[in-house]
Amino acid sequence: MAGLIPRDFIDDLLARTDIVELIDSRVRLKKAGRNYQACCPFHNEKSPSFTVSQDKQFYHCFGCGAHGNAISFLMEYDRLEFPDAIEELARYQGVEVPREQGKSPQQSKEKRQQQENDYELMEKVTRFFVHQLKNHANAPQAIDYLKGRGLSGDIVKQFNIGYAPSDWDSALKTFGRTPALQQQLLDLKVVSENDQRRRFDFFRDRIMFPIRDRRGRVVGFGGRVMGDGSPKYLNSPETRIFHKGHELYGFYQARQANRKLERLMIVEGYMDVVALAQYGIDYAVASLGTATTAEHIQMLFRAAPQLICCYDGDRAGRDAAWRALENALPYIKDGVEMKFLFLPDGEDPDTLVRKLGKEAFEAKLDEAVPLSRFFFDSLMSRHHTKSNEGKAALKAEAMPLLNQIPESTQKKMLEEQLNEYTLEDKNLRLKREIEEAYQRHKPRQVDNQLLSRHSWTPVRLLLRLLLEKPALAAAFPDYSPAILADAQISGLDVLQQVHGYCLANPHYNTPHLLERFRGHKIQDSLSKLMSMDLPVDDNNPIESLYRDGFDRLINFYLQSRCDELLAKARLGTISMQEKQELNSLMRDL
Ligand code: UTP
Ligand code: MN
Repeated sequence: MAGLIPRDFIDDLLARTDIVELIDSRVRLKKAGRNYQACCPFHNEKSPSFTVSQDKQFYHCFGCGAHGNAISFLMEYDRLEFPDAIEELARYQGVEVPREQGKSPQQSKEKRQQQENDYELMEKVTRFFVHQLKNHANAPQAIDYLKGRGLSGDIVKQFNIGYAPSDWDSALKTFGRTPALQQQLLDLKVVSENDQRRRFDFFRDRIMFPIRDRRGRVVGFGGRVMGDGSPKYLNSPETRIFHKGHELYGFYQARQANRKLERLMIVEGYMDVVALAQYGIDYAVASLGTATTAEHIQMLFRAAPQLICCYDGDRAGRDAAWRALENALPYIKDGVEMKFLFLPDGEDPDTLVRKLGKEAFEAKLDEAVPLSRFFFDSLMSRHHTKSNEGKAALKAEAMPLLNQIPESTQKKMLEEQLNEYTLEDKNLRLKREIEEAYQRHKPRQVDNQLLSRHSWTPVRLLLRLLLEKPALAAAFPDYSPAILADAQISGLDVLQQVHGYCLANPHYNTPHLLERFRGHKIQDSLSKLMSMDLPVDDNNPIESLYRDGFDRLINFYLQSRCDELLAKARLGTISMQEKQELNSLMRDL
C-alpha cells in the first residue's frame, strides 16, 4: 500500500495550479467577463454554461451542476480516483508526490518502474491471447465455443477476450526470452514452475478474460475451460499487481461506457458481465470468485449512487447477499441506495438477459428489493417477534448493525422501523414529537431583503463569506462560532470546522478549504454555496456582512432554543430549570 499523501503537499499543489490553465489544456476556454467559459464537458449542450473562475479557482456548470476545484476536475474529466488525480496533477506540475511513512524515494521510484513494466507485460500477454483466438490451430474451436455461448464478435473485442493455446509453453516462449523476463512471468503468475523446476504456461487451452483495474490496466486473468473440465474457471492468483479484494471485473468497461453512471449491478460471473453488456446493460461488474468486500462496496458507491446486488434465490445466494449488506453498512449515506435482486432457480444474469431482453431485465432491476426490506425480512425470519424475548433478541442483533451506519435519514428510518417491530416504550414517541416540533420551527424572518432573496441562512452566509475570504476569521477574533458550543443548528459543526481551518491557516484560499471537505457529506453543499453570488456591494462590504451574519446566528440560536423549550412546555416535559431559562429568553427576545 502506498502511504498517505501529506495534506501540506495537496495544499501546495492546489496553490501552484491555475485551474484556468489546467482546464484549458483539456477543454478550450474563452474569456467571458471576469470568468472563462466553454461548452460543458460533462453534459451535452450547444451554448456554454460551464464557467471557470480564476479568482475562486473553481469551476461550475449552470446546466448540469458539475462543480469543484482542480482536483475534482481531473477526477471527473479524466475519471480518476482521488490519489490518481493527485498523481496526475503532480505530473502536470512536474513534482513528485511524497508519501508519509513511505519508503525512500529511490526505492519507490524503482517500484514504480517495475509496476509500469508489469502492466506493459500483462497488456502484451492480453494481446497475445487475442491474437491466438484468431490464429492458433485451435482457434476455430475456441470461436465456436464463444459463438455457442451467444457472444458477438464485437463484445469479444470490447472485452479483449482471447484464447490461451493448449501447448505447454507458448506464452513462456514468446515472452520469456531472458531469465529476468521469465522471473517476471512467474511473479505475475502467467507462468508456473513445478517441483522439478520445470516452467510452463499457467493458462492452457482456455478462453481468457483479462481483468482490468480501475485505470484500465490488465492485472490478472480468468480462464474458462471450453467444456466440462475442472476447474471451470482458473483465475490468476494474487500477485504484486493483482489484489482480488480491490478489483471488480468489468468496472473499467462500465465507467468507460457511461459518462455518468446512474447505477451499478454486481453479479457473480465473467460471462454475466459480458452477456449483460452485449444486451446493452453496460453497468455490471463481477467480484472475482470472492465475496463482495467492503472495499468493493466503497468503490461502487463512489462511482454510482445506486448499487444492485444480484444473487441466486437459494440459501447460498441469500447468505451471500446478507454478507454484502453487512459489508455495506458503514458506507450507507443519504443519496446512495442499495438493492437486491434474487434470481429465479437455475438462472444467472447471462441466461436471464438472453430470455428477457434489456427492457424486461431492467424492469426487474427497478423492482429489486430495497435494503430496508431485505434487512428486516432476514432479521424477522430469524426471530419470533410475538414474544418479548423475541423482540429483545431481534433488537440485540439489529442494533450493532444499525450502529455501523453513519448518521443519515436512511439510518433514522431503519431505527424507526425497528422501534415499530419491537414497540419500545412511549417515551420514544414523545421524544420524536418534541424533535418534530423543533424541526418545524421557522427561523425569524430576516429583515434585510437582500439576504432573504438569496435564502441565506446565517450559517450559509457565514460559510460562504469564510470560503470567499478566509482571512475574515483572523480579522474578527471576537466573532467565533465556538461560543455556540454544540447548539443544535444545522451546519454549525461545519461552520466551526471551517472557521477553525481559517484561523489556523491564514494563507488558505477557497480551493484549500474545499479540499479539506473532499468526501465529506457536505462537500457538494459547500461547492454549491460557492456558485451563489454574494450580496456584497459598496453599501454592504464583506466585513460588515460577516459581523451582521454572526449577530443573526446568535439571534437565531436564541430563537430556536426558545421554540424548543416552548414545544417541551406544550408537551409537559419541561423541567424547572428549563422553565427559568425560557422565561429569561422570552424577556431577551
Ligand atoms: P459459476 O459456476 O456460476 O459460473 O461461477 P458462470 O459465471 O455461470 O460461468 P459459465 O456461465 O458457466 O461460463 C461464477 C463465478 O465464480 C468464479 C468465477 O469468477 C465465475 O465467473 N468461479 C467459478 C471460479 O473462480 N472458479 C470456478 O471453478 C468456478
Ligand atoms: Mn453462467
